[in-house]
Amino acid sequence: MELLKMQHITKSFFGVKVLDDVSLTVKPGEIHALLGENGAGKSTLMNILSGVYTRDEGTVTFDGKDLPNGSISASEAAGIAFVHQELNIFNDLKVYENLFLTKEITGKGGKLNKKAMIDEAQRLFDEMGVPIDPNALAGELVAGAKQVLEIAKALHSKAKLIILDEPTTALNNSEIEHFFGLIRSLKEKGTAFIFISHKMPEIFALADEYTVLRNARFISTGRIADTNAEKITRDMVGETYSNEEVYEQRGLGDVVLKVEGLTGRGFENVSFEIRKGEIIGFTGLQGAGCSEVLQTIFGALPIAGGTVTINGTSMTKETIHSAMVRGVGMIPANRKENSVIPDMTLLENTYISRHTIDTRNPSISRKGEQKRFDSFREKLNIKANRSDDLIVSLSGGNQQKIILARWLDTEAKILLMDNPTQGIDVGAKEEIYRLILKLAEAGQTIIVNTLEIPELKKIADRCIVFYHGNVVADLPHSEIEEGKVMMYSTGALGGTEA
Ligand SMILES: Nc1ncnc2c1ncn2[C@@H]1O[C@H](COP(=O)(O)OP(=O)(O)OP(=O)(O)O)[C@@H](O)[C@H]1O
Ligand SMILES: [Mg+2]
Repeated sequence: MELLKMQHITKSFFGVKVLDDVSLTVKPGEIHALLGENGAGKSTLMNILSGVYTRDEGTVTFDGKDLPNGSISASEAAGIAFVHQELNIFNDLKVYENLFLTKEITGKGGKLNKKAMIDEAQRLFDEMGVPIDPNALAGELVAGAKQVLEIAKALHSKAKLIILDEPTTALNNSEIEHFFGLIRSLKEKGTAFIFISHKMPEIFALADEYTVLRNARFISTGRIADTNAEKITRDMVGETYSNEEVYEQRGLGDVVLKVEGLTGRGFENVSFEIRKGEIIGFTGLQGAGCSEVLQTIFGALPIAGGTVTINGTSMTKETIHSAMVRGVGMIPANRKENSVIPDMTLLENTYISRHTIDTRNPSISRKGEQKRFDSFREKLNIKANRSDDLIVSLSGGNQQKIILARWLDTEAKILLMDNPTQGIDVGAKEEIYRLILKLAEAGQTIIVNTLEIPELKKIADRCIVFYHGNVVADLPHSEIEEGKVMMYSTGALGGTEA
């Protein structure tokens, strides 16, 4: 018998159909991958299931009963928990307060039983094997820990069905392994999952069944064991998908960025040089220092020692503004925390960085901005209606594309990209790789920090591997290979190959 049956679901926003006669069936104890391109309708379907949105048409039965339309409390009471695509943590509350929000344990006369909640939180974290202090302020947790807390909220609810909407975007590889172990053990006990991810290896490692949506419609469903990545990708993107090799060796210019003996938060004595038009990959496990080095070059974290030389000018101090004026741009990791300005429109979110540095043109020309926006919309294939819609009305992957546009719009000479394809679907990723290669061809210098080695193989001229805050390898394109990079990033191979 099915646990969940969603049938003929239809939903429009402002007259635009974003779900058109979509059905989804999940059995108890099953891990069901919900797949589709950016903007296909995955999160919307889950928002309907969890009662965040109302459906226009269709029925939902869960555990043998009809689920009322648009009731969060009814969905929760029925046993559905939702880990949203964007983090929903209150930074000003403590960890345990976040965990028990609206489900507080109370004693006599409704008095909060703090001790019981803290003990319960500790027990849960122990069981999950994560070192999080229930008493810490949530705002002080690193992004990975916030994601774990978000997941803990769902596990805590003892749900029959847990929706995971891209749950691993801020986790490192070992955290992901651990998290998958947890999911499997809950599955053994009968919990079902709907799992949304754009990472193929995760889907094949975890899921039993899959359903593909494309352009608001149901396309296919079946057993993961009966399909493969290529078939699924074709279902997702249609016939337009091309996965051909795009990397080509290019001639490089002079050194434009030189980092010497750089020491800062979480890394030590880091040195490397980058030439004009070069694409460098950074990789390493979370905490290896990759992201921190980028943030330091960008002036977001202080330089504790060493120098950063850009186009011949050395700096021992840097601010974000001075870095930007010198032609450095940065796409930070975790868009909701660091990039998206939710009260602003798509257009405003796109031009904000350009205007911060373009002091020659202090006035904003709507027409000019709109024109540039339109060209990015086309180049990046951004699925949006009007440029004066709020950015938060876009799907996650399309929000990420707006952030890419924001920094491409600055025409930065050196572009630092921290996990730039977060939440971007497989087809669009290929387009973005091509774009990055084109930018380099035209003379832009780019550093991409990512955990995805295949991504580096596609675009990077060299790959610098970090381990515990040190550079342990500097591999040329021909040596970028999953096994080798893994060996270095886990410390199995020491020393520098630079
Ligand atoms: N609150 C909203 N207001 C207006 N449009 C919306 C709203 N929420 C979603 N949409 C639109 O519905 C469509 C489907 O979005 P949805 O978030 O479900 O996509 P998704 O499949 O989750 O994509 P992604 O992989 O990028 O997260 C998109 O075109 C999006 O812009
Ligand atoms: Mg989504």
